[in-house]
Amino acid sequence: MRFDIITLFPEMFAAFLESGVTRRAYASGQVAVHLWNPRDYAQGNYRRVDDRPFGGGPGMVMMVEPLQHCLDAIRAARAEAGEVQPAPVLLFSPIGVTLKHEVVAQWSDSQGAVLLCGRYEGIDQRFIDKHVTHQVSLGDFVLSGGELAAMVMLDAIARLQPGVLNDEGSFQQDSFNPALDGMLDCPHYTRPEVWEGQEVPGALLSGHHANIERWRRDQRLRITASHRPELIDQARAQGLLNVKDEG
Ligand code: ADE
Repeated sequence: MRFDIITLFPEMFAAFLESGVTRRAYASGQVAVHLWNPRDYAQGNYRRVDDRPFGGGPGMVMMVEPLQHCLDAIRAARAEAGEVQPAPVLLFSPIGVTLKHEVVAQWSDSQGAVLLCGRYEGIDQRFIDKHVTHQVSLGDFVLSGGELAAMVMLDAIARLQPGVLNDEGSFQQDSFNPALDGMLDCPHYTRPEVWEGQEVPGALLSGHHANIERWRRDQRLRITASHRPELIDQARAQGLLNVKDEG
């Protein structure tokens, strides 16, 4: 799977790509990430990538030409690497679909995409109209650019790749995963067994596998019911909860 990221701030990705359990996925190319700066495709001494908006108003708008040359270079590189169908182009923007487990799972099972990170007041709409196939939002707030959103999505995608997490941290145990009926995760504890008078729940110390699993499922249901009751309704509608669970 290959992601080509169009960003005016490629340096933002350095620590992200080199840190944590997902680092191996990027380093091995299991989730290949290529960074492209439109400034490298801009004309003139100043390599200008933005200009004032027609009609006036605050801020600057990313110009269409450097983006087009940058995308041409990406398309050529992907074709060289054997790609037949042009990859989808995904823009991070508040008007996109909200990023949820289903969206991550869909991209994690794909050939990848071109990820377009906007900056300033936005991107010339003509580039969006011509090339962007999907738009994704992190939520109802405005970021200064799409880079953080791209990293959020890549991280969530990398965790879902087979073999990226070791067994203990398996993604099937994560919140929202269909393997756990889309419930929220249960609480976790480690040593010491007692801290400031608070004890680790006895079931987890019992060594009895079935009891531990029952306790975890009960906790997932309790936490989901109190924090995100609509997820319980969804699971019920999908026939995933049985009477025993709900008792
Ligand atoms: N860019 C600006 N705001 C954003 C948001 N809420 N989600 C994703 N990308 C963005």
